[in-house]
Amino acid sequence: MTHHIEPIDSPCVLRVQGYAKQFVLHEQSKIIPSSQHVELSVYQGQLTALIGPTGSGKSSVLKGIYRTYLPSDGRVLYRSKNGYEIDLAKADEHHILQLRNDEISFVTQFLHVLPRKPSEFLVAQPLIKRGTSMSEAIDKARDMLARLNLPEHLWCLSPTNFSGGEKQRVNLARSLVAKPRLLLLDEPTSSLDPTTTNVVVKELKKLKDYGVAMLAIFHDPALVEEMAEHIVELQIPQSIEQLQEKTQA
Ligand SMILES: Nc1ncnc2c1ncn2[C@@H]1O[C@H](COP(=O)(O)OP(=O)(O)O)[C@@H](O)[C@H]1O
Ligand SMILES: [Mg+2]
Repeated sequence: MTHHIEPIDSPCVLRVQGYAKQFVLHEQSKIIPSSQHVELSVYQGQLTALIGPTGSGKSSVLKGIYRTYLPSDGRVLYRSKNGYEIDLAKADEHHILQLRNDEISFVTQFLHVLPRKPSEFLVAQPLIKRGTSMSEAIDKARDMLARLNLPEHLWCLSPTNFSGGEKQRVNLARSLVAKPRLLLLDEPTSSLDPTTTNVVVKELKKLKDYGVAMLAIFHDPALVEEMAEHIVELQIPQSIEQLQEKTQA
């Protein structure tokens, strides 16, 4: 079910069609469906929110798009900045890694294991990889860390021993500074205080104005209300047993 709150007048960056993901537990010869019949679109400069109860497969959809999971079914059609369209469900590893580097970014509710490097360097890294000079990249990284209220004395330290909220700010800064073409967000503000959440909301709005396409899961319905141009509601998937009962009835 998709609700369009605003008219669609923006280029489509991502179209997910008939997406499904299931897990096969070989030891128990069981199949666990995690997402079924998912249809959604994400547009340049707009945010599509994924809603639905716990277990309806919201996180699994994002992981399928980012290719943390290999989708079981459906198409994940991504339009790149060069104008070609590619099915992320079928693209080879090399191509996926290149898109993660250049165009698609993912902020998860579970904190990435970031390497033991100074936080400011980790935030600058996506820019450096794309050819920005070290000094300019570090300047931009510091600017973003300051905006997200990460205390300055932490910038030169590795986030390994940071609190959850501090790590989350480094994660977010890394994705925000890179201005990806498609930004995937899984409860990005879940471990942040209200003040920092407000700053993140402001930064996400700026990215939208800049043209970033976003697909997001927010824990707080007020954030969906405030941020989303499109809302896609997922249902808890039916197990194989439930499907069989239906066809037999
Ligand atoms: N790696 C996995 N192995 C087995 N089952 C999984 C795995 N990942 C997710 N699932 C199952 O898929 C369903 C949907 O999970 P998830 O995508 O996390 O939902 P949501 O984010 O909407 O709460 C859940 O029943 C979950 O247990
Ligand atoms: Mg989830």
